[in-house]
Amino acid sequence: RTHLQDFHTIQNVCDALNKAENVLVLTGAGISTSLGIPDFRSSQGFYSKMKNLGLDDPQDVFSLELFRRDPSVFYSIAYMILPPENSFTPLHGFIKLLQDKGKLLRNYTQNIDNLEANAGVTPEKLVQCHGSFATASCVTCKYKIPGETLYPNLRSKKIAYCPFCENERKNLQRKFEKLEDEGGFSSRFNDIESFGVMKPDITFFGENLPDRYHNTIKEDVRKCDLLICIGTSLKVAPVSEIVNRVPDEVPQILINRDPINHCEFDVELLGYCDQAITWLCGDKLKWEIKHKDFEQILHS
Ligand code: OAD
Repeated sequence: RTHLQDFHTIQNVCDALNKAENVLVLTGAGISTSLGIPDFRSSQGFYSKMKNLGLDDPQDVFSLELFRRDPSVFYSIAYMILPPENSFTPLHGFIKLLQDKGKLLRNYTQNIDNLEANAGVTPEKLVQCHGSFATASCVTCKYKIPGETLYPNLRSKKIAYCPFCENERKNLQRKFEKLEDEGGFSSRFNDIESFGVMKPDITFFGENLPDRYHNTIKEDVRKCDLLICIGTSLKVAPVSEIVNRVPDEVPQILINRDPINHCEFDVELLGYCDQAITWLCGDKLKWEIKHKDFEQILHS
């Protein structure tokens, strides 16, 4: 995709926002960092803190294969990404504002913190592309529980087990120990560690994205009249491919702290997204974002 010919100024962005009826907002970890939640790939990001785990690739903490082999790795770090309660950022407030104005087609978020809900974005307008902490399931029998039920375990790094798989798990363990005693360790039992383990319903590498993503994206890329990508490095497929699936004539805007070299945007607002969006809405569009920090950021 190359730039749109007549779309390169802030005025173009304002006109597009005023006119738009179906804005597709694609968000990532950068929209929550102002609350102290780390993003993933920045120098101080979540993956930089995974060095002492001895993994080849820090992304493996979200590898389904590793979880099956050794769920304790994920359980040892999950407390760091548990979502805070009742808070959201001015940027989340902007997405809600688009919803209130009837302009939001959908917010595709890669975030698992569920903060969009705190801002008042409705489930219908939201696609949590990588799932969320809102629910958790048994990896063996798929028994589902509310995500919060798991929080005490995640905070204390203690693996939680499914009550319905407990007997079978114990039987398997006994068989496994017997085999080991006889010196006949079998690789068939490699997954014993994760048998009946509860896992938050966040999408791990090696897992399919939620059905909802596949059910909505095809129609949404056809329908959208403005694409805004915010706070994401666009490094993880298939979400990163959305920018290429949107028709060429639809304006594409980036709001991000760091530039993204592998995509062509018509306008890039490089900086902190809360500041950029407050300036754009408050100063240029005269739109008010409902957030406690809006006025203060606007006048800072
Ligand atoms: P990344 O950490 O890859 O990218 C975050 C982007 O946000 C970076 O480009 C930063 O420059 C930018 N950023 C940080 N703070 C910002 C701020 N205050 N204002 C504006 N921009 C800011 O995070 P994602 O792109 O979200 O997957 O990562 C995508 C997926 O990779 C995640 O969903 C996660 C991870 O593996 C799973 O959890 C399965």
